[in-house]
Amino acid sequence: MNNYILSIDQGTTSSRSVLFDLDGNIAYLEQQEFEQHFPKDGYVEHKPEDIWASVQQTITAVMKHLDPQRDKVIAIGITNQRETTIVWDKITGEPIYNAIVWQDRRTSELCNRLRVAEKEDLIIKKTGLLIDPYFSATKINWILENCPNAREKAEKGDLIFGTVDTYLLWKLTSGKEHRTDATNASRTMLFNIHTQEWDSELLELLDVPVKMLPEVMDTSDDFGIADERYLGYEVPILAMAGDQQAALFGQTCFQSGMAKSTYGTGCFMMVNTGDKVLESKNRLLSTVAYRLNGKPTYALEGSIFIAGAAIQWLRDGLQLIQKADETELLANNTSLDHGIYMVPAFTGLGAPYWDSDARGAIFGLTRDTGIKEIVTAGLQSVCFQTKDLQKAMEADGVRPQVLKVDGGMVINSWLMQFLSDVLGAEVDRSTISETTALGVAYLAGLKAGVFPSLESLAASWNCDRRFVPNMTKLKRDELYAGWCNSVKKVQSGGE
Ligand code: G3P
Repeated sequence: MNNYILSIDQGTTSSRSVLFDLDGNIAYLEQQEFEQHFPKDGYVEHKPEDIWASVQQTITAVMKHLDPQRDKVIAIGITNQRETTIVWDKITGEPIYNAIVWQDRRTSELCNRLRVAEKEDLIIKKTGLLIDPYFSATKINWILENCPNAREKAEKGDLIFGTVDTYLLWKLTSGKEHRTDATNASRTMLFNIHTQEWDSELLELLDVPVKMLPEVMDTSDDFGIADERYLGYEVPILAMAGDQQAALFGQTCFQSGMAKSTYGTGCFMMVNTGDKVLESKNRLLSTVAYRLNGKPTYALEGSIFIAGAAIQWLRDGLQLIQKADETELLANNTSLDHGIYMVPAFTGLGAPYWDSDARGAIFGLTRDTGIKEIVTAGLQSVCFQTKDLQKAMEADGVRPQVLKVDGGMVINSWLMQFLSDVLGAEVDRSTISETTALGVAYLAGLKAGVFPSLESLAASWNCDRRFVPNMTKLKRDELYAGWCNSVKKVQSGGE
């Protein structure tokens, strides 16, 4: 009998189902993209039924690789795009509105009002987050205010809220379980990361009835049993984690001070801070990294909204390239002195600026600017944004020795070398690029008892390639100064 763990990785632009063997190797992977909806400037939505259909289809596809006589899935882990908000009817199971995606900026006005009412300190203290439309709370509030009869129904207990983990759990268990884990809860702006409870003062402030909220579990826990119609037999769901936290876990950053950065739709840099919540003075977030046996481990996070999405835009929006992997060759043939800066603030700027009204721009265009310079500037913007995070972390006294990297973009070696050059730091690319799926497989396997300890997992981490800085400080500073000037020009209160 061969045993496997199924990781469901529900991301912003695609869903994946990955089967891991019990040595943590990828056995089979299936992926499916789904449609993005941009109904207005700053609005980003998904159809919950598209999310669910893509997950179901990838599960069905990946299960086809297994032989029911010989192979068995013993546990499921769910990892997900975080903060994205779904509210649905408890009885009919129908969502009352589309999923409002983490990138959506429609609640920036409400956020401004909260700031003016001087609620930011309270929110930082309790949740580790800043006031921003990014997090779920103001999105729930928007749905309750804008959908017919929603508030009334929510007060009665007929509507329930979930981030995508919760929604998938509810679907997989045929409506039996309404739960989330501490990492996802910590992204709502309603969860007190110190007491590990929904916070009544914040619920009142955001006007969210407690009845709507899921039960908060450990990251490795008994979440429920997936109905037999999905895998052909019942399988326990033993882990749930936000995708960035799962990546931190997959990169085995278990010690305080260890850092990772994931380059997917956005870029999220996280440093493990152990059992301490670090109160950032530089507009970074504190969040739950994972919670095992009731004990939370925390992380400091810098969140950038647009990384891979910038390349997707160059491909699908501007149609300058046909495939993302063309970018490496183009960048290799471009001099670093091209003078173009692209600030991809398509949905505002995340950390450390937190400017939801900023919008993107390309600077420095001349008659000889071509596709390769613009594409290179797109890639460089990802590295400069990581540099912004590194600087904010340093100012908070956090200086990771090495940055472990993962996510779709890291196969681009030019990008990784430029990242190392701009950071002036070593960058380690792990052998398994699917660290998000791996992390939640590790978490499920720990609960199932197939992985003995965190130490054993850490021992199995492998480096594919280490990138070492190879740029003068002068050049690094010059390039980065150009970036900082460009960012100033797009900020809403800027030049
Ligand atoms: O906080 C948003 C994040 O979880 C989205 O991740 O991988 O879909 O870009 P990703």
